[in-house]
Amino acid sequence: MISVKDLHFSYNKETHAVRGVSFDIPDGQWVSILGHNGSGKSTLSKLLNGLIRPNKGTVTIDGEELNDDTVNNIRKKVGIVFQNPDNQFIGVTVKHDIAFGLENRRIERDKMLEIIDEYAKLVEMDKFLKMEPSRLSGGQKQRVAIAGVLAINPSIIIFDEATSMLDPEGVNEITSLIENLKGSKTIITITHDLNFASKSDRIIVMNKGKIVSDDTPDETFKKLDLLVNAKLDIPFNLKVYNDALKNDKINQKKELMNALWELSLKK
Ligand SMILES: Nc1ncnc2c1ncn2[C@@H]1O[C@H](COP(=O)(O)OP(=O)(O)OP(=O)(O)O)[C@@H](O)[C@H]1O
Ligand SMILES: [Mg+2]
Repeated sequence: MISVKDLHFSYNKETHAVRGVSFDIPDGQWVSILGHNGSGKSTLSKLLNGLIRPNKGTVTIDGEELNDDTVNNIRKKVGIVFQNPDNQFIGVTVKHDIAFGLENRRIERDKMLEIIDEYAKLVEMDKFLKMEPSRLSGGQKQRVAIAGVLAINPSIIIFDEATSMLDPEGVNEITSLIENLKGSKTIITITHDLNFASKSDRIIVMNKGKIVSDDTPDETFKKLDLLVNAKLDIPFNLKVYNDALKNDKINQKKELMNALWELSLKK
């Protein structure tokens, strides 16, 4: 579904934000991208829908290589919920905003109103449809941004830290909404939450514009040094295990680690 080969991107001479990134994501897979601030995650997501163009390398979506001729078509297939929701509002009201992508798709009016209602309800923003987007709180803006992207029904959705401004209950709601999309869409979630990432099919870890790990969640979490080097916020249980490794009795400590890990996943 997504094929990226040797991607490079620089904003200017000093910042080489993406340095030789390659991966393939099959249809229906859910991939999480982890990495500390400035590691190139958002830049990579913008490269995937042609918002910015690589200095070198290729992006292929659904068999179509991204270029001037294909960019419009590819944008319809790749929806992005941006990290900063302020950057994605164009409408005068929440309703107009959710409608925006639909208008571009020439969907008839009655059907459009139905879709707007459905997705506004899904993110619990149906009471705010007449409001100006600029008056919403950060978390409410994130909810509307998610509704806007889901309404267009793209086959690939990138959630760039889409729950960063939500309260814990909101995070739970939206993460379960994303989990429900599993299988029916190709999903990329950019997150700092290792627990959430552990639920995806695969984890890509970025550090300084490069991929330093691309593996299943289980295998990824075994690479503690790599996670520490990538400056990730390691959960308490993994830290305990990391310390334990420095001592003897590794087998015994491994059991402890497994028990703690299972416990934290059950939360
Ligand atoms: N518009 C821009 N102009 C110039 N440099 C930029 C711009 N956007 C990002 N950068 C730089 O590119 C690098 C990668 O940034 P990017 O936003 O992709 O990181 P990120 O992994 O998404 O970080 P975060 O976790 O903070 O969202 C950083 O060094 C950043 O300063
Ligand atoms: Mg970012």
